[in-house]
Amino acid sequence: MNAEQKYLDEIALRLGAESEGLFLTWKGRVALYAILEAMEIGEGDEVILPAFTCVVVPNAILYRGAIPIYVDIEKETLNASYESIVASVSENTKAIICQNTFGLSSDLDRIADFARKKGIYTIEDCTHGFGGTFHGEPNGSFCDAAFYSTQWNKPFSTGIGGIGWVRNDDVQKRLNVSSYADPSWKSRTSLSLLLFVRKNMLRGWNYWPAVKLYRWLSKNNLVLGSSSGSEISDVQKPNGYELRSSQVQYKAGVKALEGLEAVLKRRKQNAMLLTRALADLGKYHVSEELHADHAFLKYPILVKDKSKIESLAVQNRLELGDWFNSQLHPVQSDLIRWGLNVEMYPISKHIATHILNIPCDTVNVDRYVRFLEQFNEELI
Ligand SMILES: Cc1ncc(COP(=O)(O)O)c(C=O)c1O
Repeated sequence: MNAEQKYLDEIALRLGAESEGLFLTWKGRVALYAILEAMEIGEGDEVILPAFTCVVVPNAILYRGAIPIYVDIEKETLNASYESIVASVSENTKAIICQNTFGLSSDLDRIADFARKKGIYTIEDCTHGFGGTFHGEPNGSFCDAAFYSTQWNKPFSTGIGGIGWVRNDDVQKRLNVSSYADPSWKSRTSLSLLLFVRKNMLRGWNYWPAVKLYRWLSKNNLVLGSSSGSEISDVQKPNGYELRSSQVQYKAGVKALEGLEAVLKRRKQNAMLLTRALADLGKYHVSEELHADHAFLKYPILVKDKSKIESLAVQNRLELGDWFNSQLHPVQSDLIRWGLNVEMYPISKHIATHILNIPCDTVNVDRYVRFLEQFNEELI
């Protein structure tokens, strides 16, 4: 069996999917683009998405000539609420993107049911959610299509990488990924090198300096990055965007999936310990009711002053994440270029200003709990 089929079979097994509906891409955003393309979404069509996401999501919509329609999120799930989605539907709405923020699901039953009745497609953004479930079913099972990311820091990682899962037969027939190009030799070699560095050289204490250096290098196109410079400064589709996956990713993916179950278990246990600690402190936390289904990738905390807590974490040699450091992570200003007026989405704005996250796969959850207790006054 070839490496690609082996990887697809391993994914299918975990999603309870038929491997026919699955496809692989160079990045998760490319899988979203391919899904929008197969849904024939184009000029003037509207796509609903949360006003708290990664910029590459509206990019994929804009690259199709379509219009992103943002909706505010709810504090409890960090996802767009059913009510705000319904209120944003117009006769031009063609699709609704239901995000899996940090592993937490949208109100999928109601949204998918409503969309079906209206003849609107649904797409689950499972980039944070591979391995988690909603009402006992794997994330990605509830919509016409879903996409996943295997970028750094995702539920399992191939450095960069994307997976698409199309469940709607008509959309599946129109998928065009086989015509996408292969990534260049240079990109594949860079990816292998970065995977080597990550495996052998990245440690807890040098995490933040290394991430900052990597972000700077990739922003300036000096190293293969999650996003090229133009994706965070412009809304034009960069050259060489529609790319398939590669051997490097198939092999890294199969290896990474081997350890996934154990990591998911640890994520769930850690998330519960963090919830209980934050609840005891009377601070923002994810309600216990939401724990049964979800495999938390990151545990959200809200803090008064992000840079203060970030430097305290560095001093304490603890890794903290900064997703989403803006409503269109990682773009810091001029979000109106992507059609997003930050003032119109007060909850998303508040959360983006105050959120940091704890990686849920940590083996040091007790140290995080002590850190939260020690700096309790800094938490919201
Ligand atoms: C919510 C969300 N959607 C989509 C993506 C895109 O995934 P990728 O980087 O694999 O293109 C990301 C990336 O982190 C994300 O956070």
